[in-house]
Amino acid sequence: MITILNLSQRVNGFNDTLCSSITNLLDAQHQNYRYIKTRELKITFCNNCRSCMKSPGDQLGVCYLDDDMSHLVETLLASDCIVVSSPINCYDLPSIMKIMLERMSVFCYWSDEMYAPKVRNSGKDIWGILITTSAMPGFLVPLTTKARKTYRLFAKPLRIKNSSCYHFGFKGRAIDMPFSGRDSRVLDKIIKKLTAYISKAEVLTV
Ligand SMILES: Cc1cc2nc3c(=O)[nH]c(=O)nc-3n(C[C@H](O)[C@H](O)[C@H](O)COP(=O)(O)O)c2cc1C
Repeated sequence: MITILNLSQRVNGFNDTLCSSITNLLDAQHQNYRYIKTRELKITFCNNCRSCMKSPGDQLGVCYLDDDMSHLVETLLASDCIVVSSPINCYDLPSIMKIMLERMSVFCYWSDEMYAPKVRNSGKDIWGILITTSAMPGFLVPLTTKARKTYRLFAKPLRIKNSSCYHFGFKGRAIDMPFSGRDSRVLDKIIKKLTAYISKAEVLTV
């Protein structure tokens, strides 16, 4: 199962166009996927109560906030491959990612005696793809932003391994920005990578 996580707040923006192109191509290949737009979920701030981190062991902690985060975590853990499609905002992934990272404390054990949390060893290894869109040229994203570092914080507890990154630049303006020839070539590469991941996952589950 592929899960596509679109972090853009903008309806019909470039991330929406990109994710729809990915889902159309996956439909054509009869691939199984889930497409989630974080702007349609209710994900509230972590209130730092730490109760989810008190129990030792690899079982995820329980968060008492009543919103969509636990279901999102379950969906992510049930995936073979997670695609994160995200705008670059203020030289980083957008604030919804930071909120999700704090809520992912359920993945950590942190007793009062410990100086730092320990990430639980939950779930199975998952493949990952990070896609960013930005006003700046794509090649500057790894050089001038914290996007990949923030993505690694998200990837580690979920056991996302072997991530590939794709950066679409010059996407800062109108919502109806068309796909350039280069964009289509990068999209082809993403689909090939996804197909390769899924066939590997099928081999592993047989
Ligand atoms: C609040 C805000 C901050 C932004 N910060 C950056 C930035 O630091 N670097 C950059 O290249 N683009 C920046 N952008 C441009 C967005 O990355 C661009 O609009 C987005 O990737 C387009 O995707 P969307 O159409 O799905 O929203 C910013 C846009 C907004 C609204």
